Amino acid sequence: MSKASINSQRLLDRLRALGEIGRLADGRLTRLAGSDADKAGRDAFVSWLQGAGLEVAIDRIGNVFGIWKLPENAGERPLLLGSHIDTVIDAGIYDGCYGVLAALEVIETLKEARYAPARPIAVAAFTNEEGVRYAPDMMGSLVHAGGLGADEALATVGTDGTILGAELARIGYAGQEEPGFLKPHAYIELHIEQGPVLDRESVPIGAVENLQGISWQRVTIDGHANHAGTTPMSMRRDAGYAAARVIAFLRDRARTSNTPTVATVGCISFEPNAINVIPSRATFTVDLRDPDEQRLLEEEDALADHLKELAGAEDVTISVERLARFQPVTFDRGIVELIEKAARGRGLAAKRMTSGAGHDAQMIARIAPAAMIFVPSVDGISHNPREHTSGTDLVAGANILLDVVAQLAAN
Ligand code: GLV
Ligand code: MN
Ligand code: MN
Repeated sequence: MSKASINSQRLLDRLRALGEIGRLADGRLTRLAGSDADKAGRDAFVSWLQGAGLEVAIDRIGNVFGIWKLPENAGERPLLLGSHIDTVIDAGIYDGCYGVLAALEVIETLKEARYAPARPIAVAAFTNEEGVRYAPDMMGSLVHAGGLGADEALATVGTDGTILGAELARIGYAGQEEPGFLKPHAYIELHIEQGPVLDRESVPIGAVENLQGISWQRVTIDGHANHAGTTPMSMRRDAGYAAARVIAFLRDRARTSNTPTVATVGCISFEPNAINVIPSRATFTVDLRDPDEQRLLEEEDALADHLKELAGAEDVTISVERLARFQPVTFDRGIVELIEKAARGRGLAAKRMTSGAGHDAQMIARIAPAAMIFVPSVDGISHNPREHTSGTDLVAGANILLDVVAQLAAN
């Protein structure tokens, strides 16, 4: 079996086709969870699942599964592969979609090679991995893993005021299956690295052994609106300035700490948002990440202390809401070794690495042995339309997934 290879053209064609779904008139790709574009992407995926002769199952949180089951293995726990097909705003075409479509490609290749797996093999496209419209991120896989109740997740209010459950029903993807219905034997996710390591070192395969912790918070600072021309600088309660202080604090602390901590303020808004009015309110998000849980806790504490001090110094009121909190995850050593072995088997270099991005694998690792395979991202660019991975690297990664799946599904 190890000498079979995936159908490169079929994989790359589907990746390009999915990448055209949700493209706006200005050429930008945005396929947010639960949107019309998400529906169109899901419809294409489901048609490919059906074309491949897979059983399609959709759960209440909208996770879509394509299951390849044989009468002789139907009683066994499935080997689960997957990722997500929702995107960020102005996205590239690879993030998530590559893992989902490569998983489908691997299953089709195994079927065509008349491989007889000892257990079912399934591909999942998890709902709302990106978390751009509805927090937390990795939502569908978190619900699948039992870390968040389906009803609570479905009631999530989005950044645009919509409710996830209503949107899923509207686009026809509020499924019948109870989340978690499919209990995986193991889970493997293939993904672009989204960082610079493999590209810089010219290594084609990443064997991902752990994934850093993620802390998402929303900070609201309330000050006082007043006239920009008449209010002396000493008499201001400027929520905008206080927000700027927090942004600078986070960046300076992370840059000088000599640790892998990363800190980002990705969303900000002011009220009343007028050129000649001192902002009465600033609302912004904080994304903090670190592979070490203790250090991530320290960073959260340092931010809390800073906010307390700032509230006094600037005479503003500050409140904080937690949007997501995931601990670092260590992946299954046995699967990581299988990935390295598969890479050796195809004459490819592999490097053990940490994932900087969040992934569905981080959630599914709660309920099954899991690991990830990375392929290089050119210049380490992702969450950006310039996200790119060469066809050669995409195909190589999919063939490593094929070999690992053939091994793991053999017994
Ligand atoms: C998911 O893309 C993340 O924010 O890491
Ligand atoms: Mn992703
Ligand atoms: Mn992403």
